[in-house]
Amino acid sequence: MTTLDFEIERRRTFAIISHPDAGKTTMTEKLLLYSGMIQQAGSVTAKAGQSHAKSDWMSMEQQRGISISSSAMQFEYLGRHINLLDTPGHQDFSEDTYRVLTAVDSALMLLDAARGVQQQTEKLFAVCRNRGIPIFTFMNKLDRPAMDLFELLEQVETTLAIKCSPMTWPIGSGPDFQGVYDLYKKQVVLFERTSHGKFRAPVQMTSLEDPAIERLIGVQEAKQLREQVELIEGALEPFDFDAFMRGEMTPVFFGSAMNNFGVEGFLERFVDLAPQPQAVETTVGTVFPDAPFMGFVFKLQANMSRHHRDRTAYMRVVSGKFERGMEVFHTRTGRSIRLSRAHTLFAEERDSIEEAYPGDIVGLVNPGVFQIGDVVSVNPKIQLEGFPRFTPENFASVTPKDVSKRKAFRKGLEQLAEEGVVQVFYPTDGGRDPILGVVGQLQLEVFEHRMLEEYGVVIEIFPNSYRLVRWVAGDMSVMARFAKSVEDDKGRPVMLFRNSWDLDFAKEQYAGLEFLPQPQDMTVISRE
Ligand code: G4P
Repeated sequence: MTTLDFEIERRRTFAIISHPDAGKTTMTEKLLLYSGMIQQAGSVTAKAGQSHAKSDWMSMEQQRGISISSSAMQFEYLGRHINLLDTPGHQDFSEDTYRVLTAVDSALMLLDAARGVQQQTEKLFAVCRNRGIPIFTFMNKLDRPAMDLFELLEQVETTLAIKCSPMTWPIGSGPDFQGVYDLYKKQVVLFERTSHGKFRAPVQMTSLEDPAIERLIGVQEAKQLREQVELIEGALEPFDFDAFMRGEMTPVFFGSAMNNFGVEGFLERFVDLAPQPQAVETTVGTVFPDAPFMGFVFKLQANMSRHHRDRTAYMRVVSGKFERGMEVFHTRTGRSIRLSRAHTLFAEERDSIEEAYPGDIVGLVNPGVFQIGDVVSVNPKIQLEGFPRFTPENFASVTPKDVSKRKAFRKGLEQLAEEGVVQVFYPTDGGRDPILGVVGQLQLEVFEHRMLEEYGVVIEIFPNSYRLVRWVAGDMSVMARFAKSVEDDKGRPVMLFRNSWDLDFAKEQYAGLEFLPQPQDMTVISRE
């Protein structure tokens, strides 16, 4: 086996998707803790002096306790090299999340067992489903009273249309939580409470038939557990690896991230089941991981660190070996470039990366060269088949409060739009202020905050009542009465409409024009 094959086989690249508060930050910390990456998991309770999870680093995130930007973490576990990409966890949806999910081979869906599938879980799940990637499920917070477990599984199955196959089964929940039964290893894994009323890692493992089990968990509980296990083993479909790989079945784990319950058990199965780096479709056909070097940019981030005020492009290695300093083609422009400034993306740390393999994420310092979806490769012809964007649903004019800041304002606008924080449209009907297009309101807040923090510009935002955007092909001059006429950052003609009635009316009136929910050369995911 070559080094390349060996490294490909041991790579696992995934992201955690969850609704805010389900415990993603806590889970991330515990995964890093179990892998030995961090000695002491930073507390999400954020008490003074305690460390934060390394993935949460932007000041607004720290203030609001949400994850806005994504970073990429690496850790080793049981001989596997794992890349964990952090996804934004806020209520509002942004393109950033989708882009991160284009760079992973599987996802962990984290649910609060008391709440089940929540709004944001559904949206993120839909993105994973769209990509057809395998999904793991972790039911968190079992140390608190949970929903009825069978109802919980049924809810996942019906809401998300995916079959559940439990890998573990909890013994009680809330104050009665005693551990899990590992259906794969056929072992009861028990936990102990410490004198401070807190749990700690598993202390005992035993089989279900062990007569000591009554003494350990209680007669009633042992009886119930045996019945439930019989029911699950009899009634639920056995785990089908192929169905999992197609995204039709999810292995389900139960535990409590905060108390380290079930995290290790999950990791052990994860490294077994999670797929290694997958092939990617390109304009020159399918590129397999053992092909010569190719990578694509899925995210841009300006001003990641106060020490380094520059732009970083996140590149996922798709095939071959990446070596720092290598000369490759930037295939969109056809230019030859040297990839010399390459670094890790573990929060604020910036260590150089000398080499990387398929599945790995490399941070490239980006002096304005890269755009989202760009390919770098030893083959000058390869491009991606079209990188998805989301259709904005809310629009607002924006202007700097102090006109003398116009230059900084323009720079921030361009860079933040390039990152996908917002989309920008420019009026063509005389108005001067650019219009921001976003899917969710929080994107506007992030924009406002970053404009101030990173570019020193106080801005004013004026939301308007437009809700629909259409790229228009044809002569639009006649249409100004019904819609707002703008152009996107590439100068393509665009119309904004207040509602679908206005749009339908325009379509009827101007049958000769085409109204596209996306520019023709781009794939856009529309949620309409
Ligand atoms: P997020 O990134 O998905 O938004 O969630 P995060 O990890 O920040 O966790 C959200 C809250 O849930 C935190 O509480 C965290 O301590 C708690 N939590 C995470 N995992 C568990 C678990 O297994 N059991 C229980 N009971 N709670 C869990 P918080 O209200 O932000 O702070 P605090 O009350 O813990 O101080």
